[in-house]
Amino acid sequence: MRSTTDILVIGSGVAGLTFAIKMAVKRPDLKITIVTKNTIDESNTRYAQGGIAAVWDPELDSYEKHIADTIDAGDKLNDDKIVRMVVKEGPDLVRELIEWGARFDKKSDGKYELGREGGHSTYRVLHHKDITGWEIERALIEKVNSLKNIEVLENHFALEIITQHHLGRVVMKVTPGIEAYGAYVLNKHNFTTLTILSKITVIATGGAGQLYSVTTNPKVSTGDGIAMFYRAKGRIANMEFVQFHPTALYDPQGETPNFLISEAVRGHGGVLKTKDGVEFMQKYDKRGSLAPRDIVARAIDKEMKIRGEDNVYLDVSSIEKNDFIKHFPNIYDKCLSIGIDPMKKFIPVAPACHYFCGGIVVDKNGKTSIKNVYSAGESTYSGLHGANRLASNSLLEGLVYAHNMHIEIDNVIDKIRINDRVPNWDATGTSEPNELILITQSLKEIKEVMGSYVGIVRNNIRLQRAMNRIKLLNSETEDLYKSTVLSQQLCELRNLITIGYIVTKSAMMRHESRGLNFNTDYPDELSYKEITFI
Ligand code: FAD
Ligand code: SIN
Repeated sequence: MRSTTDILVIGSGVAGLTFAIKMAVKRPDLKITIVTKNTIDESNTRYAQGGIAAVWDPELDSYEKHIADTIDAGDKLNDDKIVRMVVKEGPDLVRELIEWGARFDKKSDGKYELGREGGHSTYRVLHHKDITGWEIERALIEKVNSLKNIEVLENHFALEIITQHHLGRVVMKVTPGIEAYGAYVLNKHNFTTLTILSKITVIATGGAGQLYSVTTNPKVSTGDGIAMFYRAKGRIANMEFVQFHPTALYDPQGETPNFLISEAVRGHGGVLKTKDGVEFMQKYDKRGSLAPRDIVARAIDKEMKIRGEDNVYLDVSSIEKNDFIKHFPNIYDKCLSIGIDPMKKFIPVAPACHYFCGGIVVDKNGKTSIKNVYSAGESTYSGLHGANRLASNSLLEGLVYAHNMHIEIDNVIDKIRINDRVPNWDATGTSEPNELILITQSLKEIKEVMGSYVGIVRNNIRLQRAMNRIKLLNSETEDLYKSTVLSQQLCELRNLITIGYIVTKSAMMRHESRGLNFNTDYPDELSYKEITFI
């Protein structure tokens, strides 16, 4: 099966949907196809809690403050020009989101209520209770549905970006002029592989939190876009900076994904404590429970190791009950559902994998190293986050890059032609897998390897151990991939192993402790800026 579209967008989170809307409005003559591997709303975006950071109240905030907080949280590895651009462009794009129907909480005087999170020096986070992402997705999906030139293919799993490699040419990282012609996509309704030819392909596939068993990310976050792009020989950077959120709800039953207890709870007065009720964050940072995430997650990890415990606690008793329920109704209900009344008991919390600061290298317009491929959102390395993302800057980044990308693509698309010499997917020589355990066991293993050896605290021996095991998993999985009929499960495993390899290799290449990459063999920071390309 083959089809043709002007722009193929892979992914339906904040980045993919915002881009599709803007492009469709600007160019009603173009056909835009969104493929998404689950239902349209399923994404990291949908689960965002705290909100979206934007300079909003001039009495409290300024661009310079937001820029300084972003760079401070990022341990100065950020690209200053990109930080400035995102912070300055952001507020107008949030206003546009509001015009499209997204509702953010207001105070009784009609002004927007601004929250605060770790690393922010002031109140600047717009939010919809504690389900901001759900509200943003709702508004975006409604807007997408109103636009006739957007086609949405749900339950369509993108397999590979099509390049000259699929025309029979040898393509290597150093090959000049690698270009893309669309993607091979598995239609999960009938298990056929579609060849979708496009002038432009946009990767908006989000992050890879599923690389770790303890994660806040939903099942769809398997790093497919980054892995596909890497296989297509595109440029990736800074994947060692994996962000662990300090406060996922600790569930002894091992619920997955782990439910998030938003940092906004700490911004509202919640305090991290040990089991015996002692505040510990002041020992580590003068900002206490509201220090940037890398610092808080590391401190919690240390306290848990010292005490031999699986979690620490969040004390929210200083917040009045009605106030807590008004701001955090979803968190309140979740705690009650597992027998914890947060007004009476501490909430047990522990760090969980949450966000990837690295990814596909993009310029300020989302342009990548592969011709006709653009990317936005968590799948990218844009330079905004540096070595550690400032809370609530991710939704903002998705909006800004979607915006810049649509202007750039409008300027270039009319010069690009569809390449219809691309062959269809070749599945000869493959058969149904005999034992699914070959996939499920390897999935468990890669998560275990990453959790044990490439977590919050790293060292060279652990990284080498991880690499040895990843190489074995990789070779076994490649054998299986070559001989087996395609399935989403196998492809996701393959992608996660690729991401595990890139994260570990990047961590081995970074000989310093900076931001989220904490390596006890290199306790010091280097004084120069450096990007780990792979
Ligand atoms: P996503 O929203 O993850 O969307 C990716 C899309 O790609 C999905 O639709 C997915 O199904 C699709 N996809 C993936 N692979 C394929 C494939 N092979 N084929 C087809 N489709 C595919 N950030 C903030 O700024 N503020 C917050 O308050 C906040 N809270 C968060 C809370 C939680 C629990 C989590 C998990 C994250 C939170 N984040 C927050 C981070 C933020 O939500 C994400 O970084 C951001 O939403 C990413 O948007 P995206 O569009 O890049 O990707
Ligand atoms: C949270 O609400 O704590 C998550 C915010 C983020 O990841 O930006």
